Amino acid sequence: MAEDTKDTTSSNQMWGGRFASGPAAIMEEINASIDFDKKLYAQDIRGSIAHATMLAHQGIISSEDKDKIVTGLNTILSEIDAGTFMFSRKLEDIHMNIEARLADLIGTAAGRLHTARSRNDQVALDFRLWVKEELQKAESLLTGLIAAFLDRAQEHADTVMPGFTHLQTAQPVTFGHHCMAYVEMFGRDRQRVRHAIEHMDESPIGAAALAGTGYAIDRHMTAKALGFREPTRNSIDTVSDRDFALEFLSIAAISATHLSRLAEEIVIWSTPQFGFIRLSDAFSTGSSIMPQKKNPDAAELVRAKTGRINGSLIALLTIMKGLPLAYSKDMQEDKEQVFDAAESLELALAAMTGMVRDMTVRADRMKAAAGSGFSTATDLADWLVREAGLPFRDAHHVTGRAVALAEQKGCDLAELSLEDLQAIHSAITTDIYSVLTVEASVASRKSYGGTAPDEVRKQIAWWRSRN
Ligand code: ARG
Repeated sequence: MAEDTKDTTSSNQMWGGRFASGPAAIMEEINASIDFDKKLYAQDIRGSIAHATMLAHQGIISSEDKDKIVTGLNTILSEIDAGTFMFSRKLEDIHMNIEARLADLIGTAAGRLHTARSRNDQVALDFRLWVKEELQKAESLLTGLIAAFLDRAQEHADTVMPGFTHLQTAQPVTFGHHCMAYVEMFGRDRQRVRHAIEHMDESPIGAAALAGTGYAIDRHMTAKALGFREPTRNSIDTVSDRDFALEFLSIAAISATHLSRLAEEIVIWSTPQFGFIRLSDAFSTGSSIMPQKKNPDAAELVRAKTGRINGSLIALLTIMKGLPLAYSKDMQEDKEQVFDAAESLELALAAMTGMVRDMTVRADRMKAAAGSGFSTATDLADWLVREAGLPFRDAHHVTGRAVALAEQKGCDLAELSLEDLQAIHSAITTDIYSVLTVEASVASRKSYGGTAPDEVRKQIAWWRSRN
């Protein structure tokens, strides 16, 4: 799109009445937001159409002027959509760019649009509409990711893998159970998104500069026309509030943190040393020098996007923290942070969904690893508690001796002979071997939310019923 051909040689044509000269070049540069807030054009036009319609309905402007305004705004919408609109930095921002073009198109009636509003409530409206749409996109992307995980969990409800704490082998779990842990995380993210939509579902337009207006406007009418539940209640708060943006960024940061942990696991799992998964060609890259390599770049980039998103959250919190009520120009710096975070989150969610759907799960490798590292030691201790009546602490100690012996012999717990085990504790019988396999271990963990395949299948069904 072409830049800046408008003639605004002296003072600003929108607010320059009391100014004798135009801004310094550097003032224009620091002040102008059009380069990034042009993204809000569709929201700005929707808001203006609703506002003009309400003004006419209330008899504040004539319906002829309203019709001209609406037709003009729709023309501008198609010009911007088509890429033929000339944006001007001299006109500062999207609001004034559109209003100036409206004046070109329809003449003096354009000047009536800004009755009973200010750019302060206008920008609050545009940005809120944009963030609301972004939250709705995030909700559906999260639903897609959850669906991908539910399918993989179903497929692998019986696939045994090592469960880790401290990234050391802890106890066998199923891959389905591990997938469902992410379903819980992304499910909470989705709930947070839904709550945020509820919190922010109030229309700012009509708060005007900060104090409301003397015109007999109908804020309930504009709220309804723009798809909000109701108008905001306090005009000062309305033009000073960016909680909706902060809430979006907070949710994005938490969700990105979940994505990043998953990305980290994918990076680890896809190493030849682990070999738990194979990423599809579609989500990996090769090395320009080492022909054998297949790199998990998509996962690494998802992990890195978290840094950007967290940075945006901290930036906007810092921008807002010292601002007196009501509007200050500092707030213009809210947009780039949110735009960048939104783009990063969308990309990360989409790429992760693709990776999860496409990756090959190497059940044989998972199972082999699940059995190593004495992962069924807790099962041995539990058997001593259950079958021989030992207090758990004593059983823990006895099992520790069995692990030490197996380690010394270079074998698994299940490979120790009955004589060896009985030498450690006389109550041990051959029945012990039934709990030392990884399959028996996971099948026994039937507690609510545990890793037993039947339990995991119940959790999958619960999630499927509430999407
Ligand atoms: N471009 C401005 C922003 O993004 C619009 C509001 C300007 N308001 C004002 N009083 N200068 O915040």
